[in-house]
Amino acid sequence: MAGFPAVRPRRLRRTPALRRSVAETHVRASQLVLPVFVREGATEPTPISSMPGVVQHTRDSLRKVAAESAAAGLGGIMLFGVPEHKDAQGSGALDPDGILNVAIADVASEVGDALTVMSDLCLDEFTDHGHCGVLDASGAVDNDATLEIYAQMALAHAAAGVDMVGPSGMMDGQVGVVRDALEGAGYHDVAVLAYSTKYASAFFGPFREAVDSALQGDRRTYQQDPANGREGVREALLDVAEGADLVMVKPAMGYLDVLAAVRAAVDVPVAAYNISGEYAMLEAAAAHGWIDRDAAISETLTSIRRAGADIVLTYWALEAAQRNLVG
Ligand code: PBG
Repeated sequence: MAGFPAVRPRRLRRTPALRRSVAETHVRASQLVLPVFVREGATEPTPISSMPGVVQHTRDSLRKVAAESAAAGLGGIMLFGVPEHKDAQGSGALDPDGILNVAIADVASEVGDALTVMSDLCLDEFTDHGHCGVLDASGAVDNDATLEIYAQMALAHAAAGVDMVGPSGMMDGQVGVVRDALEGAGYHDVAVLAYSTKYASAFFGPFREAVDSALQGDRRTYQQDPANGREGVREALLDVAEGADLVMVKPAMGYLDVLAAVRAAVDVPVAAYNISGEYAMLEAAAAHGWIDRDAAISETLTSIRRAGADIVLTYWALEAAQRNLVG
């Protein structure tokens, strides 16, 4: 057995240069999207305690972070509005002077074509009950009445100058009605990034604080059961059929198998959302000194890309690009 083993995978792991040269997966700034929160009436950025390092922006600080994101070469910025007043219909979502609509216009005028401006198209930030749609007389989320509002919301975002709308409420038919509304109004170039495969996840927890959500209960009648992988692929296929330009899997880390299956099943770009709870867990462990923060961020983003995401939405997008945490 002279020289056994002759086959030694470790040969290609010996030096950083060797490892770099055979790396199968890369994470580029252009593949990262920064989700941001902007709060109506705010005069100072407000920290979000469950997401250390993330804030609710003022309109001014939002412009600044958008310009920095463009300079860092990010792929895009995803906007969430936090309105001052919420009501049962989420009417702030349709008001042209509502926070999300003015924020879209602010960012679009700040960055022009240097950064893709994306918007979360959903009612939960705007409703006083915190659900992603309007409720019927029995208190259930009314799918078809909600669709009509989503169509109007898409037009409000388009009028404000958005490049890509992200319907995220998990109403059946939402991509189709949004696409139809945009086409009908001549917004042929506004793309739809469909939050297609979205699970009723406990890991959205910190997001509730980020948008001052009033939600009681859960979203299990519209978001998917975490037990269901095949259904996740079905949702993505339906959205492609309804005209989605990109589809998304969300959350990312607990759903990498679903992400890989969706990547294999569709022929449009696939995004994955590295969500608030994933961020909070890593930041909390790092703050205790229990894990190496930079290495854990890099490994997280690389893993999501390896599983099949073309684009990753992550609260670390700007830092990862600026500090070269990815490569
Ligand atoms: C819906 C929406 C949510 C998130 C993005 N869009 C919340 C939800 O559906 O419960 C969660 C993002 C995160 O947790 O980081 N507007």
